[in-house]
Amino acid sequence: MSISETQVGIIGAGPAGLVLSHLLARAGIEAVVLETRSREYVEHRVRAGVLEQSTIDLLDELSLSARLRAEGLIHRGILIGLEGRRYRIPLSELTSGRAITIYGQQELVKDLIAARLAAGGDIEFEVEAVELSGLETQRPTIRYHQRGHPHELHCDFVAGCDGSHGVSRRSIPPGVLRVYERRYPFAWLGILAAVAPSTDELIYARHERGFALHSVRSPTISRLYIQVDPGTALADWPDDRLWQELQLRLGTNDGWTLADGPVLEKSIALHHSFVVEPMQHGRLFLAGDAAHIVPPTGAKGLNLAVADVRMLARAIGHWYRGRQTEELERYSERCLNRIWRVQEFSSWLTGLLHRLPGMDPFDDRIARARLEWVCRSEAEALSLAENYVCLPFEYSDQISKNIVS
Ligand code: APR
Ligand code: PHB
Repeated sequence: MSISETQVGIIGAGPAGLVLSHLLARAGIEAVVLETRSREYVEHRVRAGVLEQSTIDLLDELSLSARLRAEGLIHRGILIGLEGRRYRIPLSELTSGRAITIYGQQELVKDLIAARLAAGGDIEFEVEAVELSGLETQRPTIRYHQRGHPHELHCDFVAGCDGSHGVSRRSIPPGVLRVYERRYPFAWLGILAAVAPSTDELIYARHERGFALHSVRSPTISRLYIQVDPGTALADWPDDRLWQELQLRLGTNDGWTLADGPVLEKSIALHHSFVVEPMQHGRLFLAGDAAHIVPPTGAKGLNLAVADVRMLARAIGHWYRGRQTEELERYSERCLNRIWRVQEFSSWLTGLLHRLPGMDPFDDRIARARLEWVCRSEAEALSLAENYVCLPFEYSDQISKNIVS
């Protein structure tokens, strides 16, 4: 058995765990990251790829944005497809020049890992049987195996950044957490394709056959999604059928065509909203997907994870400076403030763009009218843009500014 010590034990090397390790290192706090998968696996796991302005600002601040600045695609607007028409929401115009950057999550994960290891950081891949204990004490322990050997890591804090199926949340005793969740009656079938995007900006389309999204990854790689039945199997969607469906749903009255190409990856993801409260138990702090999931429509998962760990690093830093616990005690409440804002936005956008199976025709017309109004009214478009591109990190602090009593 090998026994070691650190200040913060971070479970999970996804965006949450990795960004946290950088933030802590900047504050001079030692951390060890433990990850069940291999480095190769986490660096190639295809996920979303939209970075909000505040995420970019933080990566800039940490000097982690050189490749993303060189290769990421800056988008200043999005397109909405409805009834064969396209509308544009001018995100930057509406938000004093702020923008989103398209950069595959796995590319960011590669950059975060490379920079941490280059700086001498400790990331242990392929650990097994991770087990947390002593969370209610001042010195929790993480036990795990690596290449057959048992290890014990003692730390001051454990950061549970191990995604929705990790061990951290499960280590909290029953009765402590309250779970809020919603399952949606549809899924997204997503592909990565080796073809130049047929659009300069993301297209979100509401169609009577269901939602479709044309996103991009690079000048030669496209990312596309369609709404499907949650029971659908990948085998039901051979490439030809999928391209035809995408063309139909994304198509316009003026004959726009979608270029197709070889499909590099294909997967189905169910839509799910999930939040646990609180995000803390004793010395364990949950962050990112370990504490909440949003449906992918608003592209918020990664951004929310980054916002959590920024708050967590601040609270932990505060504790090390003066052994004061007030920031740690407020961690959960502050994160949840933003999380519920983002849950509301993601669920609103999801409802706006998807057609529910068996939808009442009246409700369907109302939904179409609502979406058209978002595209036509500057006030509505501004609200969409604000949420989509630029919720400030200080959201939870600023929210109190309009409270009068
Ligand atoms: N021990 C150690 N690591 C674990 C364990 C465990 N028991 N269980 C899971 N992990 C690892 C996973 O392999 C994964 O690499 O934890 C990591 C969690 O990473 P993500 O799932 O990417 O979650 P997070 O870092 O919170 O990122 C936010 O936003 O875009 C969305 O879901 C998308 O991944 C994205 C997320
Ligand atoms: C993606 O590029 O994967 C993507 C883009 C926008 C979304 C969701 C996913 O809303």
